[in-house]
Amino acid sequence: MQRRELLKRTAMAATAFAISRDAFAGLFDDKIKQLPLNEKIIRIGSNENPHGPSALAKKAMIDAVASSNRYPWDVTTKLRERIGELFKLNKDNVVIGAGSSELLGVTATWAALQKGTAIAPDPTFRLWIPAAKRVGLPVNLIPLTENKVTDLPKMQAAVDATTRLIYICNPNNPTGSIIPAKELEAFIKNTPAHIIILLDEAYTEFSDEPSMAHLVNTHPNLVIAKTFSKVYGLAGARVGYVLAHADTAKQLADLQPWANAGASAVSLAGALATMEDKSFIPYCKAENEKAKKIFYYLLSEHGLRYIPSYTSFVYFDATRYHKDLKTVLEKSNIFGARTFEEGTKWLRLSMGTVEEMRAVAKALNEG
Ligand SMILES: Cc1ncc(COP(=O)(O)O)c(C=O)c1O
Repeated sequence: MQRRELLKRTAMAATAFAISRDAFAGLFDDKIKQLPLNEKIIRIGSNENPHGPSALAKKAMIDAVASSNRYPWDVTTKLRERIGELFKLNKDNVVIGAGSSELLGVTATWAALQKGTAIAPDPTFRLWIPAAKRVGLPVNLIPLTENKVTDLPKMQAAVDATTRLIYICNPNNPTGSIIPAKELEAFIKNTPAHIIILLDEAYTEFSDEPSMAHLVNTHPNLVIAKTFSKVYGLAGARVGYVLAHADTAKQLADLQPWANAGASAVSLAGALATMEDKSFIPYCKAENEKAKKIFYYLLSEHGLRYIPSYTSFVYFDATRYHKDLKTVLEKSNIFGARTFEEGTKWLRLSMGTVEEMRAVAKALNEG
């Protein structure tokens, strides 16, 4: 075979492989999308908060409907100030988006404009990657360690002259594992200033590990993505934000069409109110711990290996379960067990309410 033909075929095979991996990453059981919001169905596939929205958020959203003929300048500013205060930063360090997904996309576009490549762990939260590739940001995936933790030394070793962005999800989705704060902080400090570190902290609130927000003012290359979709229980409202150095925040905001292009007035009011609900977060965290305990016990009873989770979901190996675990759950109207590693039986299940997790236990024990 001619050398040129060989190169062409290799490139085609690599592209096909990349496409199949992306299709796999984006794969969301269509069954779940079509399910009615019906109490008889247990939906534990998207790491949604089974307890939210909080009572204060619901009231604020209902009240905000009356003024939704106006653009939400005022509430956007208030929310940025309030988030800034929470992290001992100020509003210029905060950019709001319609969910953190929007801002992961904006940050990837910013890196693509600098004509570079990205590095991300595998598996991780990959829904932003196909769009990033389409705008010209190739992404090099680095496998997790054997214990399913983000492999920082391997990611560091993968950095080359083209690297413009490193994505880290901490705690990691889908594995629930965490990089200890000291290691992560050292990694951020050692990364060259021209490489954007996109740190996704969608689940930090479920653990007692600190945010890396205290580093944004000294590290303009650090972009921290956070969301109201998880512990705050507002996934459907679509509000997320990034924390970054004021100069970085401005560059990211400049890639949004304009200040009011994202989250709605109603959603922003819900986000602002949920931050004042002092009992809601502790309640959700405590219930999540109870749900995880029930599930860990169940997995241990069945001899199934799991990764201790710092989040609201659990990653486990279903190889030793005597039947197809996903099918057994679905027969009991429990939807959400999902695969993220092709060719393995590792599954992720989001934690539901205590009652829902008891139903999971019953289904798997009787399955
Ligand atoms: C790690 C991670 N980042 C970001 C998101 C997106 O969240 P949002 O609803 O804010 O777009 C998710 C949602 O599941 C997630 O798991």
